[in-house]
Amino acid sequence: MSAVPKADQVTAQGRLPMTLPRLAEKKQLGEPIVMITAYDYPSAEVAEASGVDVVLVGDSAAMTVLGYPSTVPVSTDELLMLAAAARRGLRSPLLVGDLPFGSYEASDEQAVATAQRFVKEAGCDAVKLEGGGTSVSRARAIADAGIPVMGHVGLTPQTATALGGYRAQGRTAQRAAEVTRDALALQEAGCFSIVFEAIPAAVAAEIMTRLQIPVIGIGAGADTDGQVLVFHDLLGIYEGHAPRFAKRYAELKGQMVAAVAEYADDVRQRRFPGPEHTYSIDPEELAAFQAQLG
Ligand code: KIV
Repeated sequence: MSAVPKADQVTAQGRLPMTLPRLAEKKQLGEPIVMITAYDYPSAEVAEASGVDVVLVGDSAAMTVLGYPSTVPVSTDELLMLAAAARRGLRSPLLVGDLPFGSYEASDEQAVATAQRFVKEAGCDAVKLEGGGTSVSRARAIADAGIPVMGHVGLTPQTATALGGYRAQGRTAQRAAEVTRDALALQEAGCFSIVFEAIPAAVAAEIMTRLQIPVIGIGAGADTDGQVLVFHDLLGIYEGHAPRFAKRYAELKGQMVAAVAEYADDVRQRRFPGPEHTYSIDPEELAAFQAQLG
């Protein structure tokens, strides 16, 4: 039986802060894990109020928030600023910071140093890195340094060019075996969880039977322990390329444009501001002021 939570551990919504043991427990109980990206204070507040379990400050921010053409150009400093803002909007979800391209591949030392920045400077609970191969050693080094690490296999956007573009992975027996090998190696290296991106549902289901850590899927079918979506895809804010797995639950970009256009029209037609948006002054004070001006 789990210990009774202390009052100060419970958030305003009555939720317990998410921890690694609770995440593992959710997997054991078969309770789906909900993860979403967030990149700033308002999106983090939405994630908090919606009761999600895990928030990822993904390097997808490069495209959704910073306007880069891919995830490759975003710098550690840019992601740290976004992660710190998201931290200020969160209490209960686990906060994971994405290590950007070029910030961890060179050596285990570089990987640990960057991961430490996400924890110290942005207040992240954990970090995520992409791929197998040398990333396995980087994940082990970060975990050994006491920082929880999430892996990411299948379509890994930071190295999409080497994978032949933004396309599903594991669609041949050989590639499916490679994804499996990477996932098992990341688990063995100490990752507390792993993202499966854009792999066939049947392949994901097979690999799942060999993993003890929670698997969060995005375009990996319904058998994973949880799902993640990109905030801007889910809400219909980002109009760049939307993969088939990005389900839209709203079309906010259209609503935002309509609202700003209505404001612009109101200003041009002198309908805004109205009396209710305007401060008043006592007539005597106004008269005195006018007299002062002569
Ligand atoms: O950067 C990101 O948003 C991600 C998710 C798609 C898992 O890595």
